Amino acid sequence: NDSSTSLIMIFGATGDLAKRKLYPSLYHLYKKGKLADHFAVIGTARRPWSHEEFRENIKDSIHSFVGADEQIDDFSSHFYYQPHDVTDSDSYIQLKTLAEELDTKYSLQGNRIFYLAMAPEFFGTIADHLKADGLTDTTGFKRLVIEKPFGHDLESAEQLNAQIRQSFPEEEIYRIDHYLGKAMVQNIEVIRFANAFFEPLWNNRYISNIQITSSEKLGVEERARYYETSGALRDMVQNHMLQMLALLAMEPPIRLTTDEIRSEKVKVFRALRPIEGNEVNEYFVRGQYGPGTIDKNEVVGYRDEMNVDPDSQTETFVAGKLMIDNFRWAGVPFYIRTGKRMTTKSTKIVIQFKDIPMNLYNNNEQLQPNLLVIHIQPDEGITLHLNAKKSGQNMQTNPVKLNFSNEGSNGINTPEAYEKLLYDCLHGDATNFTHWDEVALSWKFVDKISEVWEQTNSEIPKYASGTMGPEEAEKLIENDGFFWWNLN
Ligand code: BG6
Repeated sequence: NDSSTSLIMIFGATGDLAKRKLYPSLYHLYKKGKLADHFAVIGTARRPWSHEEFRENIKDSIHSFVGADEQIDDFSSHFYYQPHDVTDSDSYIQLKTLAEELDTKYSLQGNRIFYLAMAPEFFGTIADHLKADGLTDTTGFKRLVIEKPFGHDLESAEQLNAQIRQSFPEEEIYRIDHYLGKAMVQNIEVIRFANAFFEPLWNNRYISNIQITSSEKLGVEERARYYETSGALRDMVQNHMLQMLALLAMEPPIRLTTDEIRSEKVKVFRALRPIEGNEVNEYFVRGQYGPGTIDKNEVVGYRDEMNVDPDSQTETFVAGKLMIDNFRWAGVPFYIRTGKRMTTKSTKIVIQFKDIPMNLYNNNEQLQPNLLVIHIQPDEGITLHLNAKKSGQNMQTNPVKLNFSNEGSNGINTPEAYEKLLYDCLHGDATNFTHWDEVALSWKFVDKISEVWEQTNSEIPKYASGTMGPEEAEKLIENDGFFWWNLN
């Protein structure tokens, strides 16, 4: 496909993200014939590697993370390396020369993707140089792909955005939220808008509450330097959790175009009830993992992790209740929950329907509410929880499940989120990237919460590693007469 013709310039080419996600994804696209022959990659970073050394590293990454090597020489021959100092114009001028050579060699039609897969403090500087040193003077398309975090709060995000916008207009900016590349996150829209039986019920008359849980077993790993300044609220809620919420809550767009979908998502963010001051503790709960057991192994608490302040108040867990004040959702709580060192690695959405008006089967204790469960990961699929007749003489009910599994094999056959996002970017489809308005509104919401937490003197609540978070998170939802569904 000709439209994927492009030069892809990766800043941070020796980093973890590039190795684990970008090269394997590019390889998958290549193997599927979706990169055609008209592509070249320039990797840049500080290390003084040669093209050959870089290619060896690409091969290693494919071996380790894909476990295949078909056409690997062909594939890696498209990769070039340029040692780079992000603050030095000479570096960019050399890059430009190499870019022009490759443009001719591979007939790339002047198309360029600049992928910033590195420390966020350099995003602005790089964008400045790309323009000032002429890398964006090209006849083809140019696109800037930016990894998270996009700022630390609204103010810093605004500054970063203003700086980037000097060199790239909004339509050329692709802000990554890798959750938007996940197959089942993309499926939320299809489940809602391609089925007759959900949409009529998708409102406050029939839905009692919605729960979004994204739990991890991993701890902070080697990322404490970043994580200590972030915490779960900035790391997961501002982006991934709020994005999933927007897709669940948005109105049907009039058309499935980037602009229409984004504009519906923005409306959800605008309808989010701001939580501030004293209300924060009523609506949001934070927690930090202590020592505990994960898969039968003892693990240390957060404060004993490498590079973590022994008195750290950083939250590794957040639970919250969000209200969307519009006609559709008035009165329906959206509960979110995310954290590290929890019981399982799993992302799920549970839509709990309201109880039916009365229970005719009163020989039974209580009817189970109907649930629609969207399994995002590791399993991909949907489950409907219904009540049916128990076999036997009596009219007793029995909860049953209707299950659809997207592929049944733990995501092995579904393309990685990054593969989809790279493909979209190559084709100029920004739907599954976040628009600035979404970023700004979600920071605005989240900032009010972090402000209060930062001013609190009380100790952060703790939870044992391997559990589903602190007791406070249970109380948060129990106060409303609900409980968290911890479903398989
Ligand atoms: C990232 C966060 O954005 O998402 C990480 O920075 C987190 O802290 C990760 O571990 C979770 O992603 P996934 O795809 O494994 O659910």
